[in-house]
Amino acid sequence: MEHVFGADRQNRSIWSRSRVVEGYVRTDTLQPPEAAILSLVGPEIAGKRILDIGVGSGRTTPFLLRLSEDYIGIDYSPQMTQRCRERYPNVQFKECDARDLSAFPSHSFDFVMFSFNGLDYIDHAGRLKVLAEVRRVLADAGIFVFSSHNRDTRIRRAWELSHFSGTSPILTPLRFAKRAILFGWGMMNSIRNTKNEQHNDIYALVNDECHEYSLLTYYISMQKQIEQVSAFGFTATQIYRLNGEKVDIDEQAPLDPWIYYVCRKETNN
Ligand SMILES: C[S@@+](CC[C@H](N)C(=O)[O-])C[C@H]1O[C@@H](n2cnc3c(N)ncnc32)[C@H](O)[C@@H]1O
Repeated sequence: MEHVFGADRQNRSIWSRSRVVEGYVRTDTLQPPEAAILSLVGPEIAGKRILDIGVGSGRTTPFLLRLSEDYIGIDYSPQMTQRCRERYPNVQFKECDARDLSAFPSHSFDFVMFSFNGLDYIDHAGRLKVLAEVRRVLADAGIFVFSSHNRDTRIRRAWELSHFSGTSPILTPLRFAKRAILFGWGMMNSIRNTKNEQHNDIYALVNDECHEYSLLTYYISMQKQIEQVSAFGFTATQIYRLNGEKVDIDEQAPLDPWIYYVCRKETNN
């Protein structure tokens, strides 16, 4: 298990890098499935209590604030929460690990979101803790939205020459040189990180191209993800592809790199 904890430490260190923090500041739109989901659940959660987990540098904050001012964003990276406070000084942010939400009483939120695959940078045991904690802090019939990498997608490896597609040393020399530097950097990271991958019947921890192969990312098929949330008392009520289209759960699994899940907390009666 040693290497799993090493991977967790390594993933965590990436979210503290200023280049990464600023990269997320530059993204200020919703992804199509997020926009579809917020218009679906918006009327239900308007004015209700919202927890935005893995808020990063606050991309989702203004969109969720439009639905409710009863909002708090959390992230375990102090650099991320600090950036959020600078951007939105009147909004609540807290440094907090999603695996331990003991700062929040049970049933304290109506809507919890862990956007843009934040859940995938936590190891399997940690992921299960997050699901249990989210269930605990959600009110009965509350909604949990998250996205996760899809094990049925094709994962591009560091050494693939497709990284150079659309560039040419003659026609676009600067772009080509930049790609070549990133390619070399990605290869070096990949040599270091691929040996820590895990593949089993439920999920895979894969050294994918995110942040130039510097992370280990959790991949799970749609069906296994539905089973996983169900074991924690959630029903996946809607599932979305990256283009914002709804997936028919009984249809063939989508091949998108990641998938958005809308889950409803089941009540015990
Ligand atoms: C891919 S970034 C997404 C940031 C933001 N949600 C966005 O969409 O721009 C993932 C975020 O999840 C956070 N994160 C990862 N594991 C976490 C954990 N265990 N607890 C809290 N935050 C976590 C990271 O620090 C990072 O800010």
